[in-house]
Amino acid sequence: MNLIVVGSGIAGLSAALHAHERGHSVTVVTKGSLGDGCTGYAQGGVAGLYGPDDSPALHAADTLTAAAGLADPAAVEILVDGAAERIAELIARGVAFDRSADGSLLRGREAAHSRARIVHAGGDATGAAIAGTLVAATRASDVSVVENAFLLDLVVTDGTARGVRLLIDDVSTVLEADAVVLATGGAGHLYSHTTNPEGTTGDGIAAAIRAGAAVADLEFVQFHPTILAAGPAFLVSEAVRGEGATLIDDEGRRFTLESHPDGELAPRDVVARAIARRAAEQGSPVRLDATMLGAETLRRRFPTIDRVTRQRGFDWSTTPIPVTPAAHYLMGGIVTDTDGRTTIPGLFAVGETARTGVHGANRLASNSLLEGAVFGARAAAALALPWPAASDTRPVAPPAPVSAARNTHAVPFTRAALQRLMWDEVGLLRSAEGIRRACDTIAVWAAQPLPLQSIADHEDANLLTLAAATATAALARTESVGSHHLESAIAPVLETV
Ligand code: SIN
Repeated sequence: MNLIVVGSGIAGLSAALHAHERGHSVTVVTKGSLGDGCTGYAQGGVAGLYGPDDSPALHAADTLTAAAGLADPAAVEILVDGAAERIAELIARGVAFDRSADGSLLRGREAAHSRARIVHAGGDATGAAIAGTLVAATRASDVSVVENAFLLDLVVTDGTARGVRLLIDDVSTVLEADAVVLATGGAGHLYSHTTNPEGTTGDGIAAAIRAGAAVADLEFVQFHPTILAAGPAFLVSEAVRGEGATLIDDEGRRFTLESHPDGELAPRDVVARAIARRAAEQGSPVRLDATMLGAETLRRRFPTIDRVTRQRGFDWSTTPIPVTPAAHYLMGGIVTDTDGRTTIPGLFAVGETARTGVHGANRLASNSLLEGAVFGARAAAALALPWPAASDTRPVAPPAPVSAARNTHAVPFTRAALQRLMWDEVGLLRSAEGIRRACDTIAVWAAQPLPLQSIADHEDANLLTLAAATATAALARTESVGSHHLESAIAPVLETV
């Protein structure tokens, strides 16, 4: 079978390598260079190395709890049951996860995990180690690679995905295939402040929406609690809190215990909201106090964070550092079954692009690299299987357009204006009225034709599509759950990143 994989993070490259190893002819298409994207930035690690007091069942229970009751237990079981094999595969491909002096793999802990079960590499450079290894494996294989190719649209013929239309060197080009895997990541650049690298603009999800694929759970956007509140967004891994660091306010008080008995290790959405509220109350960022870990541990365990914080003028071994939340991960996406199949025959989605059901309303830390590896491999295996009956996979209409615009005074559309609107109205702390305002403004913008000349223009159009779908989904969910949190009195989220 001829397969096109769009995207080259852990999910895309896992799908590509597995498909290639199963005898398929594979082309990986990627927007920048192979391995660009979110995977390389992941600090925490891969969840799923179970010690004697731990098990896949406990990991599943933690995943379901963090998901606020909205994860699919069957999908979660597949995720955790696949962990051992996928971690072993990454090691076999050459990922040097950190080990203790006796050679055993080290296990880290992060928020909402009841056990230390996260493997990491280079201390806090796990994603870079994985991306480097998978890129090298891909380049060493017969997988064809097309870099600097922007996904314009899916080619769908008679209801079946048959390829992709790409923009390469300003020329629109069609690549045909028997099946397409979308692995283009999330859409962090919907927001003014995000941990995601440039280019994370929801291109695959927007293309799938245009093609009529079902999407779901787009209202569930995860905000990482601890971004260094100085300079360009830089993530300070949750693993730092897993090692014992605390969050303190201006009075030096640990305030997260007021929100949850697990304090700093409560689910990510709870911690992020507690930080935003306390920062708004005191009018300055809260601080992450890692001083108790000592300079030597901080340098060894978190070399990247140690380097960047020092470059930005902080000695975190002696002084707590200012932190603030930023958009980090999209729990929703293109609806798939547990083999990555979407509602369009021939179209698969894996990784953050997909809504497999494993994250519900809030993703558990370090489950994203695991998801990419597990479901990337499963999608490759499913290529040989017959597509399920049409009744299960019928394409559905794209999300209903946002309401007819009531607000005729919207500022002109720019990416920055959209990001600001989403940050203010469909962000960490939301209100029904604010979401409605966002819907109205987005409707005004969506009614005006956008220029579609450059890649940036196409990205803007994709972000607008995603914003409309996200705001519509948020409006439809009238109760707070997980990362979708409605408050009547909204505390401003500090603009400190
Ligand atoms: C982190 O290191 O805090 C991020 C890990 C994740 O997003 O799962």
